[in-house]
Amino acid sequence: MITPQHMRAAVYTQYGPPEVLSIQSLPIPSPGEHELRIRVLFTTVNRTDCGFRSAEYVISRLFSGLLKPRIKVLGCEFSGIIDAVGSGVTRFKPGDAVFGFNDKRFGAYAEFMVLHENDAIVKIPPGVSFQQAAALSEGAHYALCIIRAAQLKERQRVLVYGATGAIGSAAIQLLHALNIEVTAVCLSEHFGLLENKGVNRFIDYTKNDYSTEGIQYDFVFDAVGKSSWGKAKNALTNQGKYISTELGKNGENIWKAILHKLKRGKRLLFPLPSVSAKDLQYFAQLAATHQFVPLIDRVYNFDEIVEATRYVEQGKKMGNVILRIAQP
Ligand SMILES: NC(=O)c1ccc[n+]([C@@H]2O[C@H](COP(=O)([O-])OP(=O)(O)OC[C@H]3O[C@@H](n4cnc5c(N)ncnc54)[C@H](OP(=O)(O)O)[C@@H]3O)[C@@H](O)[C@H]2O)c1
Repeated sequence: MITPQHMRAAVYTQYGPPEVLSIQSLPIPSPGEHELRIRVLFTTVNRTDCGFRSAEYVISRLFSGLLKPRIKVLGCEFSGIIDAVGSGVTRFKPGDAVFGFNDKRFGAYAEFMVLHENDAIVKIPPGVSFQQAAALSEGAHYALCIIRAAQLKERQRVLVYGATGAIGSAAIQLLHALNIEVTAVCLSEHFGLLENKGVNRFIDYTKNDYSTEGIQYDFVFDAVGKSSWGKAKNALTNQGKYISTELGKNGENIWKAILHKLKRGKRLLFPLPSVSAKDLQYFAQLAATHQFVPLIDRVYNFDEIVEATRYVEQGKKMGNVILRIAQP
């Protein structure tokens, strides 16, 4: 039963399929001196949360717990309203509308979450809805880290493979904002979804192979890990770079990145993701000026979290899947 001091949260106590998630009643957390409590309105069901829940890559257990999860409530990105603050908090006040990302403490699969005021949390800019704000950071922060690592110059040519995913659809908009020429690879039936998002040219991967077209790119951004270094190297300029969001066959994207540190010319890189409030402020500014509008596929209610997770794990979502925790 949910009492006034309790909240609804999607809890998991063991690694496994989407069905290990169940909605339970937990005590509402209290913020410490430099912490804030957020009343969560929207979150997303994304590949980061799914990765930690399934522990499909055993390496994730080094962070989340070897045999069972240390943190019982996932949900790494969110939008909501600050509901209480600790006595030492100076950056926020109750009533502030915020969005953020946290893949260390998680907690957005619940009606309330507590984070430190210096975590990656920023105010939602005017004109951006709570629903949109919830989808501004998970895909985009991976995309930004990867784009930074590629060290691009204006008007260079980039191919984004898997351009309709959460990372890909953020990447094309971030690249466009940096004045980069973007070729997007996805199914032709999905070209329309990326209209007005800064794509210069489209390729349908079932009809054309970018690696044999004879066009060269300064950077191949393999946003869903469905291409490979073996393919991409044929389509790179002499100093071109390839980065994938996946480990690649037999983890080749890790060991090749280490070997390529010593290499000149075309290279594979494997940057580690990070996120800061400054990065989120940048996304907020781009969202406020409509340069970054997150692609939203479906919206599920909190009760439908298992169904939403099953959908996300088909690997076919268009951008982001929203989970409505409460009404704004
Ligand atoms: N383990 C982790 O913690 C973690 C965290 C974040 C991301 N990742 C990885 O990063 C990758 C991207 O994540 P995401 O959230 O952006 O993915 P996503 O949104 O789930 O990607 C789905 C998209 O992939 C496209 N796609 C599916 N098969 C394809 C193929 N054969 N060739 C080209 N495109 C294809 C689909 O578009 P079309 O239907 O148009 O093809 C769909 O839009 C995923 O591989 C994910 O596992 C891992």
